[in-house]
Parts: sequence; C-alpha cells; structure tokens
Amino acid sequence: MNVITSIKEMQQYSEKMRLSGHRIGVVPTMGYLHTGHLSLISLAKQNADIVITTVFVNPAQFSPEEDFEKYPRDVNRDVAMSESAGSDVVFTPSVNEMYNHNYLTYIHVENISSLLEGQFRQTHFRGVATVVAKLFNITKPHVAVFGQKDAQQAIVIKKIVKNLNYDIEIIVAPIVREANGLAMSSRNVYINNGEKDEVAVLYKSLKLAEGLVGEGENSVEVLRYKMKDLILSNPKFTLDYIAFSDESTLEDVETITDKPVLVSLAARFGKVRLIDNIIVSRI
Ligand code: PAJ
Repeated sequence: MNVITSIKEMQQYSEKMRLSGHRIGVVPTMGYLHTGHLSLISLAKQNADIVITTVFVNPAQFSPEEDFEKYPRDVNRDVAMSESAGSDVVFTPSVNEMYNHNYLTYIHVENISSLLEGQFRQTHFRGVATVVAKLFNITKPHVAVFGQKDAQQAIVIKKIVKNLNYDIEIIVAPIVREANGLAMSSRNVYINNGEKDEVAVLYKSLKLAEGLVGEGENSVEVLRYKMKDLILSNPKFTLDYIAFSDESTLEDVETITDKPVLVSLAARFGKVRLIDNIIVSRI
C-alpha cells in the first residue's frame, strides 16, 4: 500500500496515473474507517482503476466547541482496512501541509449550506467545501464517492462540482447500517453497546415515517409529530431537527406528493450528536 503525506507527491502520482491512461477514483474520509467507508472504497474500485482514500481530520469543518481534538484517529488501522477494500493509495496529509501559514481561501456554497445541519453548525459546510475542493485539486480524480449518510454534504459537493466546473463524476453510495438499524459512523465509538440499541430508535422513526407515507399519510406535520413522539419517549434524547426536504434542492416540503422526499434528522443522545436520513416516496 502506498501511503502519501505530501501534497506535491500526491499530485505527481495522480498526474502520472492520468498520463498513463488510468481512471482515478477518490474516497475522501476523516479516517477511523468502518464498513460504511469500506463500501465507498469498493464502489470507487468498481468505477476506477486506481482508488485513493484520503484520511484527514479537517479542522476547518469543526467549530471550536466540537470534537476535533477528541475525534478518533488510527491511521495504521485505516491503511490496512482501506487496502482490504481495494484502495491503492492512502493520502494522509498533516494539518500544516493542508492549511499552511497564512491560509486565507475558503469556498462558500450559498443557501444550501445554511439549511438543516447549517443551522446548527454555521461554518461546517464552508470547511467541508474547502477541503473537498483542495482534495480534488490534489488527487485529480475522474470520479469521487460520497455517502448518503451525509445527504446534505453530498448535495453541497454536487453543487460545487457543477458551479466550479470540476470535471469529476460524483457517486453517492447508500447508507450502511448496523444490524439494529443504527447508521455506521466513526463517532459511534462515543456510544456503548447497550446505548446503541437505544439510539437505533432514530432509524425506527425514519422507518415509521416511510411506513406511514406508504399507507397514504401525506401531512408532514403529522409525520413529524409521530417521529418526535417516538424519539422523545426516551428522555436521553433532544432533537435539533426533523426535516422533510426536496431531495435535490433541500427546499422544505409540507405535503408528500409523488416526488421523493428526503427525511433527515439530527438528535443529541447525551453529549453525542447523531444524524440520519431516509428517502421516502408515495410509490
Ligand atoms: P467521514 O465522516 O469520515 O465520512 C467519509 C465518507 O463516508 C462520507 O462521504 C460519508 O457520507 C461516508 N459515510 C459515513 N458513514 C457512512 C455509512 N454508514 N454508510 C455509507 N457511507 C458513510 O464526511 C466526511 O468524513 C468529511 O466531511 C469529508 C467529506 C471527508 C470532508 O472532510
């Protein structure tokens, strides 16, 4: 496995691969890989000759009160796991290499960055947009794979690619879940095994909405009320939001029609913040 830490070296490697006719796939991650990440790497491998997995805990997307310092890290484990899923290279730069002295340039995607997650994490998508643009310029991919787990992030990235004319195909991979339905996340290390079953209620609430829509319920007000009721029956939860949005523009939806709707939520379980989503449609 080729582990690269220098930006220049990464760019030279990718340039060489491009010139020799290889199709490059990139899977950006913050490391501490789990099966969800590995599914993205396998999908990238099916769509490219060379897969680069990036492992970088990006300080620009954490606010000062968030868990940047505490975020789990284990690069050696990440290298072994990503290799087993088909990755050819791990690019893992230092913070200094990425945001060197007097760093001043940020990318801001208007409107969609301030909805949903953006209401609670004001500078988050500015950090994500900036680092992903940098990683695209460094790894020079033909295709990049992101997860539906972070549905809004995938929409923001598609917008950057369209608006800034990146010649990169974006693939969005389905959410990988634990047996009890809990969406896999590096941050699940903050939750113990007993708590994992409690936290699985978030997915149950999404499935409840899906089931009710299937039975003909079309009022978002009713659906949101029932989801809230289920989640908040456990007093350890507080809710940041339950949103029903157009799956590509993220505009609010009030009535379920024939168009697919993104149902997304963010909740706090004790000190841990979790997000999850599902796409529902009447048909
Ligand atoms: P991270 O949280 O490490 O996630 C990396 C990628 O894995 C993202 O595209 C995310 O949506 C996807 N992913 C996470 N959990 C998943 C699951 N259970 N099933 C399927 N895919 C899953 O997202 C980030 O890092 C960062 O914001 C990043 C894009 C790397 C920019 O720093």
